[in-house]
Amino acid sequence: MSILTLMAIETSCDETAVSIVQSECTSLTQFPDRVRVLAHQVESQTEIHQPFGGVVPEIAARDHLAKIHGIAKNALAESGLPASALDGLAVTMGPGLIGALMVGVLFARGLALALGIPLHAVNHVDAHLAPALLMPSFSPRSDLGRWFETPHLNFPALSLTVSGGHCMLSLVRSHTERQILGRTADDACGEAFDKIAKLLGLPYPGGPEIERLAAIAGGSRFSFPAAINNRDNRHGFSFSGVKTAVLECVRKQTGQTLGKISGAGLSPDLKCEIAWAFQEAAIGQLVDRLQNALTDHKDIVRCALVAGGVAANTRFRTALQQLGVPVHFAPLALCSDNATMIALQAFLAAADGFAQQPFARYTDTRISTP
Ligand code: KG4
Ligand code: ZN
Repeated sequence: MSILTLMAIETSCDETAVSIVQSECTSLTQFPDRVRVLAHQVESQTEIHQPFGGVVPEIAARDHLAKIHGIAKNALAESGLPASALDGLAVTMGPGLIGALMVGVLFARGLALALGIPLHAVNHVDAHLAPALLMPSFSPRSDLGRWFETPHLNFPALSLTVSGGHCMLSLVRSHTERQILGRTADDACGEAFDKIAKLLGLPYPGGPEIERLAAIAGGSRFSFPAAINNRDNRHGFSFSGVKTAVLECVRKQTGQTLGKISGAGLSPDLKCEIAWAFQEAAIGQLVDRLQNALTDHKDIVRCALVAGGVAANTRFRTALQQLGVPVHFAPLALCSDNATMIALQAFLAAADGFAQQPFARYTDTRISTP
């Protein structure tokens, strides 16, 4: 049995996160039999970006720079381990905001050089799926230090990664072989939630706010169109149509004809009903595309894996119960950006000998081996 201890660093957007995670496996080139999180530090910049209604890249990078050192120290303290106990480092190499990424990558490079340990580059979108593959349940409050057996999953699986930056449907043939079936033509699903929230005068991030208002409404006099779902677009996503429909609805309800349209002054009831109808259309599209992919690969697909910030949406989770195959979610605490998922993805890549991943431009790179 060998135990590998990794410190992982995530700074691709507006969370500064550092985790320390261990894997236990019979050999370094095998998938982990068990994993455990010794430290899980996530510091969100939500409040800093809230006045702007979205993430401001320059502000994000500067805040990562101010905090990364302290958060890494806190993670070591939380784990109870000295830095010399680390076997390696993993860092998000992309995709993400370039200034924000550079802070994490340069910090990780410096630390790897100082400690004389390898640094593994991880693709952020790949990493979102790793908790669904390796650690389907985890709560930072109660599970730090607890070993989790990695689940036995039946492949091939369909995977849907839906976050603020990505909306990607894939066919997952094994823990590390993934084939992209569809992406978004315009906005990511979470981005559409954020933009509609901004239109309605709700705070950033918009996903949880839209979900909260939709739950209050429980129904709506409005209905917004689903994206085109035809032979040529069975696996792709688009949220521009539904966004325009919501904008037109707000224009009608407020009587605004000139200038920038805002729904901030709408009555609470109207806002809730618009939020409900938007959520139905957005979630409906995600479920439709998964259903299409399931129909197109029905002879082989054994289960579905769902991850990313939008996977925290309860309505989405409920809607997926009608899919007809078992659905495995990333645990809620690992849906939005965190560094534990970066460590888990590094374990998967290590077990695969850091082989070329089909859609990861960065996962195969050992960016520094002192
Ligand atoms: O994965 P994530 O933390 O960051 C990215 O990699 O983008 O996802 C953040 C996104 C935001 O757009 C946020 O509005 C959305 O996930 N989100 C939700 C919910 N919670 C977060 N969208 C819908 N419903 C939610 N409950
Ligand atoms: Zn993310």
